[in-house]
Amino acid sequence: MQQEEPTYFQLCYISKILARTVNKKMTDNDMLIVDARLSHSNYIKREIAYQAELGIDDPLVIVDIDEVVERYRKWYHLLPRVLDLGVDPSRIIYANPCKQNAHLPFAKKHNVDLMTFDSEEELIKIKMLYRSARLLLRFRPNHMCTVMYDLGKKFGCVFVEALDLFISAKNKGLNVIGVSFHVGSDCLSSDAFAFAIKEARRIFDMGQQVGFDMNVLDIGGGYRGRDVDHPTIEENADIINQCLDEYFPAAEGVKIIAEPGRYLVETAVSAAANIIGRRFVYDQGMCRAYKYKKRIEHVLYNINDGIYGSVSRVNDGTKVLVISPVLNKAMAEKHNSTLWGPTCDSTDCLATDIPLPLMEVGEWVHISYVGAYSLCRATNFNSMPRPKLYYFCSRHTWYI
Ligand SMILES: Cc1ncc(COP(=O)(O)O)c(C=O)c1O
Repeated sequence: MQQEEPTYFQLCYISKILARTVNKKMTDNDMLIVDARLSHSNYIKREIAYQAELGIDDPLVIVDIDEVVERYRKWYHLLPRVLDLGVDPSRIIYANPCKQNAHLPFAKKHNVDLMTFDSEEELIKIKMLYRSARLLLRFRPNHMCTVMYDLGKKFGCVFVEALDLFISAKNKGLNVIGVSFHVGSDCLSSDAFAFAIKEARRIFDMGQQVGFDMNVLDIGGGYRGRDVDHPTIEENADIINQCLDEYFPAAEGVKIIAEPGRYLVETAVSAAANIIGRRFVYDQGMCRAYKYKKRIEHVLYNINDGIYGSVSRVNDGTKVLVISPVLNKAMAEKHNSTLWGPTCDSTDCLATDIPLPLMEVGEWVHISYVGAYSLCRATNFNSMPRPKLYYFCSRHTWYI
């Protein structure tokens, strides 16, 4: 398969537009442009030093735009048939199959006409508010693979509902152009994509039989965020490319799109929190045996970021946080440690029983891989400020 380099335009899109969509007013001045890309821990050290000069010890989050661009490049290289979303509204997908009424005229005003549906109610809504939209039928893949977040519980029709939905859309004069699925977020098996693509083919054929010109397949998200986790993007790409060639051969001209979320951003973001409190739990047995010598059994830290801040998904038990001291303490003895967030909520706990070197109040901890589904869920519970965001980008990437 012919591989093309991402174009100048696409890379500009990912590095600048992506960053700017986070904060619509973002300009070059809001980006910390560095001569050469640094490690997250060095970005954190730099901002902590800057804050310290101002007497500030608030939690902060650093966003590494180079990482997003790098992952985008890798995606493009591994899945050349699966297009990125471009900047033109005609290439944006309104992918939530359950849309608020008022959002449909908004989409229409901005010419975002590609959208998903999965029920009769949605078809009624679309007929009323955006009749000319181009529609993808989202189905719930019938796979038994493990996913961390099963979106099928909430979205997507089942196979046997598809035909009726196609017929209903036809009767309403709507324009269905393809099929979409999401295997579930943080999907633990590449087979899920294989099963889903095969099922998509059968549903696609159904749409064609009802008389629609079916020409888009949307293979959704579900790709893992960290390179060390399996299936890796390479493993997923192998299976996806094979299945696409088998069930949607390139000669047929079906456009393949995807909606990678976690894959693009999880590793691009790190949080840094200040230790605002510490307590020791001593080993009582040792204390009795050696009268005056106490051994630290456990260290309880209170830090100023937590589940209401930049690490909001830790409590559902699926996220393993990677936490380390900002100061290099690689050689120091490790103690069983627990990290509590700053609020009054006793579930505001980032990690229990993890080995960490001893840290002092006022020191900083680095929390890695918090880019996906984290800060976007932050609240101001207990009037705690949301961590401040610092965007870093190398000069080379920013001025591509
Ligand atoms: C419709 C849709 N597309 C894409 C995504 C991104 O998924 P992921 O982060 O698993 O790649 C989500 C996440 O919930 C979603 O709901």
